[in-house]
Amino acid sequence: MLTSIKKYVMKNTAIKKIGLFTSGGDAPGMNAAIRAVVRAAIYYGVEPVGIYRGYDGLVDGDFEAMDARSVSNIIYRGGTMLKSARSAAFRTAEGRKKAYDQLQSHGIDAMVAIGGDGTFTGANVFLQEFNFPAIGLPGTIDNDLSGTDFTIGYDTATNTVLHAIDAIRDTASSHNRLFFIEVMGRDSGFIALRSGLAAGVETILIPEMEMSIDELVQRLERNKKKSSSLIIVAEGGKSGGALEIAAKVKDKFSHYDTKVTVLGHVQRGGTPSCMDREIASRMGVAAVEALLKGERDKMVGIINNKIVLTPFMEVVNTPQAINLELIRVNEILNI
Ligand code: F6P
Repeated sequence: MLTSIKKYVMKNTAIKKIGLFTSGGDAPGMNAAIRAVVRAAIYYGVEPVGIYRGYDGLVDGDFEAMDARSVSNIIYRGGTMLKSARSAAFRTAEGRKKAYDQLQSHGIDAMVAIGGDGTFTGANVFLQEFNFPAIGLPGTIDNDLSGTDFTIGYDTATNTVLHAIDAIRDTASSHNRLFFIEVMGRDSGFIALRSGLAAGVETILIPEMEMSIDELVQRLERNKKKSSSLIIVAEGGKSGGALEIAAKVKDKFSHYDTKVTVLGHVQRGGTPSCMDREIASRMGVAAVEALLKGERDKMVGIINNKIVLTPFMEVVNTPQAINLELIRVNEILNI
């Protein structure tokens, strides 16, 4: 069965060389995705070419032919062996022409782009200008992409946050402290919501459900008898980050020692979780198979445990819906 699919795909594709790159913020699991794309390409008799530093490397021709051993022992490493960048050059028509010429001169027929919405917008423009096919994989800790239940990196990042909050809880409860913990997510609260619920924090502040300072003060008043309180704050909210919010409420709760922790880039690194390695591996194989079947301009996602392809611009233009039910659950659990 497997062999017949392989034979069919190999016979019916014109693609002989695939370029692959990671772009935008790095995310744990990107290396597992690179490994999967490289090995799936080789499995189907296609040559994989690594492109370093995202779109910048595409413009500069920073390419390297890869074989199955080039991606040995990277599945468990955070970051991305291909490096990443947020490219200014590729945003210009001149930069994209240079990138196209580089691809042509290296005989590359298609590419797999691992990144977020900026990455997919770039690939879509490139297709329109040069008819160059690309398939994308969702690589970002933010989980802010529609077309997939989970992005590569999100599970690891939320587990990193969870462990940090568990550690903070020890000092918070030992000293009667009110802690404001800021997490990443750009404009979205996926990281804060999932890790906040799992860590059992008292309040979760996310941009998708703004809470005024007055409301926050009232909530804290209600919980005043608690020996300590943890509040998780997603960056990107209108009331500001954890430092600003803490400064606004601090004086009203003098019985607490108020502290702020901004977790920052620790959330971007570390050993990828089992789930991130699993979805990256499945998505990487699916990306190569999609390209070989003639698909283009689409992102591979996993929805309800099934591989799904969604057009790049649909992914970019449709906000990923956040499950606000989790806020309600957290409120019930924090009486
Ligand atoms: O998109 C991933 C992310 O980590 C966001 O959560 C965060 O806002 C941003 O990237 C930080 O970017 P940089 O690493 O360039 O500071």
